[in-house]
Amino acid sequence: MKTPVQLQELIDDGVIDEVLRPLKSGKEAAVYVVRTGDQVRCAKVYKDMAQRSFQQRVQYQEGRKVRGSREARAMAKASKYGRKQQEQEWKNTEVDALYQLRAAGVRVPEPFGYFHGVLVMELVTDAEGFSAPRLGEVALEAGQARDYHRVLLEQIKLMLCCGLIHGDLSPYNVLIGPDGPIVIDFPQVVSAAGNNAARTMLLRDVNNLTAYLGRSAPELLDTWYGEQMWELFQAGDLYPDTVLTGEYTPDESAVDLDSVREAINDAREMALIREQGRRAAEEEDY
Ligand SMILES: Nc1ncnc2c1ncn2[C@@H]1O[C@H](COP(=O)(O)OP(=O)(O)O)[C@@H](O)[C@H]1O
Ligand SMILES: [Mg+2]
Repeated sequence: MKTPVQLQELIDDGVIDEVLRPLKSGKEAAVYVVRTGDQVRCAKVYKDMAQRSFQQRVQYQEGRKVRGSREARAMAKASKYGRKQQEQEWKNTEVDALYQLRAAGVRVPEPFGYFHGVLVMELVTDAEGFSAPRLGEVALEAGQARDYHRVLLEQIKLMLCCGLIHGDLSPYNVLIGPDGPIVIDFPQVVSAAGNNAARTMLLRDVNNLTAYLGRSAPELLDTWYGEQMWELFQAGDLYPDTVLTGEYTPDESAVDLDSVREAINDAREMALIREQGRRAAEEEDY
């Protein structure tokens, strides 16, 4: 294969030795399998801002810290400098999040650095050493769906304890390794404290996974982990060792819970169907 220009720079700098093969190319990034010494890793090359749905991302920026007031003003104006700055923020966000989450014990790929706009990280593999399948691609039995749900909700909780919400969690951003699910794809990660839309995004993340896994283990559809987690988080009572039950009673005692549940489950299904449609349209696999 012809070595992509961004990866040639990493070879020239001795960061990687060889590009073995392309793994996946989506709307926002192309991922390659690379070799460093005797280690096989992967390299995520971000596509140019122009190729991405820039405007959709503006809401995500809301809760993110920006270094100086010059940067803040520039980003707000979306000036040329601002756009460049915002693009930089976008790429760095994923790298920063991976280091922070990894240190907090969250199941994410181990990052090996960020060079010339390329993220080098652990290649998640299956038991045979092939690149791991995504959650949305594996057949699931009820018991396995329950296990994955428990582990994934644990990861969402640990992230929230770090003050972070994934923001694009779906069966396509979870890889299945030999010892369980691993969460990937963090450029849009949001701050739980600073963003008005944080609760909505947390519930959407939880609901995406719950609706999907609930197809194999329907009792999951009757859980309220996102709502419970958010309530504890807001009260300052969420800790890494907090045990969640998935039970939650909304404040208003008068509401008709059955119809609320029905509406939520409908919304979960709709969100998932749209998500799958969107992913199918977006992704061109090699
Ligand atoms: N660390 C990794 N190990 C194995 N495969 C990966 C890894 N990171 C990404 N991939 C593969 O590349 C695909 C795209 O990566 P992702 O980070 O989700 O970017 P995007 O969805 O924005 O294109 C993933 O769906 C997955 O199949
Ligand atoms: Mg992805």
